[in-house]
Amino acid sequence: MSRKKIIAANWKMNKTSTEAKAFMQAFKTELGAFDGAEAVIVPSFVSIATVATEIAGAKNIQVGAQNVYWEKSGAFTAEISTDMLKDLGVTYVVIGHSERRQFFGETNETVNKRIKAALAAGLRPIFCIGETLTEREAGRLVEVITSQVKEGLANITGEEITELVLAYEPVWAIGTGKVATPEQAQEVHALIRKTLAEMYGEKLAGQLRIQYGGSVKAANAKELLHQEDIDGALVGGASLDPREFALIVKAAVK
Ligand code: PGA
Repeated sequence: MSRKKIIAANWKMNKTSTEAKAFMQAFKTELGAFDGAEAVIVPSFVSIATVATEIAGAKNIQVGAQNVYWEKSGAFTAEISTDMLKDLGVTYVVIGHSERRQFFGETNETVNKRIKAALAAGLRPIFCIGETLTEREAGRLVEVITSQVKEGLANITGEEITELVLAYEPVWAIGTGKVATPEQAQEVHALIRKTLAEMYGEKLAGQLRIQYGGSVKAANAKELLHQEDIDGALVGGASLDPREFALIVKAAVK
């Protein structure tokens, strides 16, 4: 089963629109004529329009959002709807990032609501899961990962999730420079795929893409990206530099 690699740049709360534009111009130059993998730029909400303009006509580059609210519209001050994102040309939306879970009260239940709303609107969720160091050291890795997958995808059918992407991001590897070894990452990716197979059958589980995230950089990307069950990367810090990010995207192609 061939799964096209997907490399996403999660800029988090970095870059103004002016900086986003400069990044995109440099990034397109660095990437050149590129094929064989998908690159997704995920800027802050306020820079989505700028990035969307810059990728117009670029075949393998898409724009994503860092979150989305589940209600269609209404009195929800400061929230962003699926229609607002789609209108700007957004195709992917990151949901359940560990920073949202840690600092902004995101739970498996709210993650589930966002995933449902995104899928219903035809947006592709990048559904993030991952254990903390405390959970891993307490021997709770399997339990935490399987419950995040099952609860995040509760009451969502196999037909609905064909375009969904998962991102395994061990919390202890995010922004710490402590990358999971390719073997550690592969082991959890295989566990995620097994859980998906139990829920949706082997065929669909074999088609779904699972990214690794956590201190990915050009120097470690190739080894991670060529593990059997690793289908891409969600990149934070190293995605802020156009050259470094272009090298990571290129590492996805054999
Ligand atoms: P990092 O972040 O690459 O800076 O570790 C990854 C992420 O949080 O998506």
